[in-house]
Amino acid sequence: MSVCHKQARAAAVGEGFACYRGLRQLVVEWVGCEEAGGSGRIAVEIRHGGNILSAMSKAAPLTPRNRSRSTSDDAIELIAPVVHNWTWWSDFLQREYYATSDERAEWRRAATSIARAVGLRPGMRVIDLGSGSGELVFNLALHGAEVLGIEQSAPLVEHCRAEAARRGVAAGFVAADMYTFQPEQKVDLVVSTNTSLGFGADAANRAMIARIANWLVPGGIFYLDTLTADNAEEYGTWTDTVAGGKLVVHNTWDPETKIMVNDPIWIDPSGTPHAADRPEIVQLYTRDDISTMMRAAGLEPSILRRAMGRRVEQTEEDAVTTWAAVRRDDGEVQPMGATRRKQ
Ligand SMILES: C[S@@+](CC[C@H](N)C(=O)[O-])C[C@H]1O[C@@H](n2cnc3c(N)ncnc32)[C@H](O)[C@@H]1O
Repeated sequence: MSVCHKQARAAAVGEGFACYRGLRQLVVEWVGCEEAGGSGRIAVEIRHGGNILSAMSKAAPLTPRNRSRSTSDDAIELIAPVVHNWTWWSDFLQREYYATSDERAEWRRAATSIARAVGLRPGMRVIDLGSGSGELVFNLALHGAEVLGIEQSAPLVEHCRAEAARRGVAAGFVAADMYTFQPEQKVDLVVSTNTSLGFGADAANRAMIARIANWLVPGGIFYLDTLTADNAEEYGTWTDTVAGGKLVVHNTWDPETKIMVNDPIWIDPSGTPHAADRPEIVQLYTRDDISTMMRAAGLEPSILRRAMGRRVEQTEEDAVTTWAAVRRDDGEVQPMGATRRKQ
């Protein structure tokens, strides 16, 4: 009798099974055991909701206990967790997924588009909040700006520093929590791209916009590119090929709380799944809410139609919205591209 699911794949790791323990929503279900050629196999399925994310089997003794196991708890006992913290995930995902060589041209275009939108000039000081792979930092620096990437993942920051040196780009990176980070001097531009704001509690996110406004010189710009609550939707479970393995992300969106959750799992080429210790939780805001927060912080927001080097114009129907919000000077709003402080 074969009890392995059709999608079963061998995934023995050392003595045990790899597992997605740590992601509470995932159910590891004991499927059963089979007898083949005198030896036994046990099989488990990893499910999320109704979807089977993965199924595995491995050789195991056909003890009376194994034969009679039936609960998911029992199955969990059998498997060894492969759990990494979120820092590892940021590092892995940003480098292996968002900064591959085929993404490089996109990053160059994004930097050029930002530079045009804000009137970036050599010597201007720039902060990239949640700088991820550092690609935007490198490319803005190539426009002659003095750019500092703020990123919570220390390994990612190490990678970015090494990469800056390797490429011969003068760019700085600081491993810090953006919610507590304080720049030493005022800057001309703060960028936050690809939904990098909203990782804090609501009050902290709102306070963050006011803090950003205070970091800017009069006439300085906050460039924000983010998913908004207006058109956010649930992506469900999606998969892609990453670093030769399979990325499986379970995404949920709750329009009531305006919270989006991403549970990523990467199944490496040998079949070993790697899970984070927690999902990524992002608080989204409506366009109106963001513009209101910006105005309250002394910024004058404009929503951009062409942004981030995207080939199509952005409309109100799009999931992503991009702002260039100018820091008012003594209550006076400076138009975009107006004269800003030279270094
Ligand atoms: C969605 S990614 C976007 C990265 C990059 N801005 C881009 O456009 O690709 C968000 C990044 O913010 C970082 N991050 C999340 N919370 C942070 C915090 N509190 N302080 C600093 N960085 C943070 C994550 O590690 C991740 O690299």
